[in-house]
Amino acid sequence: MENLLITGGAGFIGSNFVHHILDRYPDYKVIVYDKLTYAGNLDNLQDVADDRRYSFVRGDICDMGLVEEVVQEHKVDGIVNFAAETHVDRSIVEPGSFIQTDVYGTHVLLEAVRKFSLRRMVHISTDEVYGSVVEGSSVESDNLRPNSPYSASKAGADLMCRAYHVTYGVPVVITRASNNFGAYQYPEKVVPLFITNALDDKPLPLYGDGLNVRDWLYVLDHCEAIDLMLHEGQDGEIYNVGSNNELTNLELTDTILELMGKPQSLIQFVEDRPGHDRRYSLDSAKIRHLGWRPKHAFENALEGTVRWYTENRWWWEKIKSGAYDSYYERQYGTRQVLTGS
Ligand code: NAD
Ligand code: TYD
Repeated sequence: MENLLITGGAGFIGSNFVHHILDRYPDYKVIVYDKLTYAGNLDNLQDVADDRRYSFVRGDICDMGLVEEVVQEHKVDGIVNFAAETHVDRSIVEPGSFIQTDVYGTHVLLEAVRKFSLRRMVHISTDEVYGSVVEGSSVESDNLRPNSPYSASKAGADLMCRAYHVTYGVPVVITRASNNFGAYQYPEKVVPLFITNALDDKPLPLYGDGLNVRDWLYVLDHCEAIDLMLHEGQDGEIYNVGSNNELTNLELTDTILELMGKPQSLIQFVEDRPGHDRRYSLDSAKIRHLGWRPKHAFENALEGTVRWYTENRWWWEKIKSGAYDSYYERQYGTRQVLTGS
């Protein structure tokens, strides 16, 4: 691959991946194609803005005409699709845009791969498509039992990728990763929300009993896995990308507070998320057989992440004081506080 179209490249994982590719492959060109929704942010890419190998196009993955134009103009030979509506809480309030972008948009990209015979598309999916896993770990062949409009939309996209591979032979690889954390993550997701709240001594709203379990993967380890899939994944295959690092939300929160030297009294138990999945857990033996494993120890990576938000207030303060707050006030102003300060 020489000319990579990175859709959703102005978001959290996408922008980390753009940095990864430009650092690793001197001969590659990257074209970031992003709608710049509330979650898309060119600040995430400002340090590569002058790189001659980078270009940016503002566009919607649902816009087939523009996608085709960009693919032709930039002689794109591969696509990595990060573009999606991604926040479960928002999907509960407003599912329509999730169905539109995550399912229809993915179909538009698959059409472009088919029409222009691109060499590969990597589609970034999530462990959430398996639904809540009470015991054991999900393998790639498990049934999909998504429970939120977000995960149902992501499952729809995965199935569309599968169908395009089986029906038309489209060369697409799917990755299903666990919860990511790291720099440039929009501060509505739990890790950056809790770090930035704690920095300002604001309460950390923990949903329900705080015992839901997530597997925490450092974003740069995820980028390594996507790189491997781009170059060595098998067409039509799905690869789980997990870190075997399962924590309850309470354990995660305690660790963040401890690293920051902040008191546990900042924890505020609030009303649970409707349909809140209890646990996700991935069996990642398939990608590990290809040589991938997470290189970053969890606590070190979390400490580095805390440091990044501490040192980069310029990045998140304007987000939290803008659209973010009014959205949350409108939608969640009424979330009931159960206990805590
Ligand atoms: P994000 O919300 O930070 O970024 C999404 C990006 O997509 C934004 O830049 C946004 O502007 C762009 N976008 C949204 N709709 C678009 C559209 N219609 N056309 C073009 N661009 C559009 O998300 P993220 O956390 O970086 O997640 C990236 C991908 O990884 C998503 O597909 C998500 O489902 C998947 N994923 C995320 C996690 C996680 O923990 N964050 C875990 C596993 C998988
Ligand atoms: P989130 O970061 O939204 O990711 P996802 O829902 O995709 O896993 O949430 C991670 C976990 O943290 C999830 O179990 C919900 C919980 N959570 C809270 O307890 N409080 C919060 O304010 C948020 C945003 C999430």
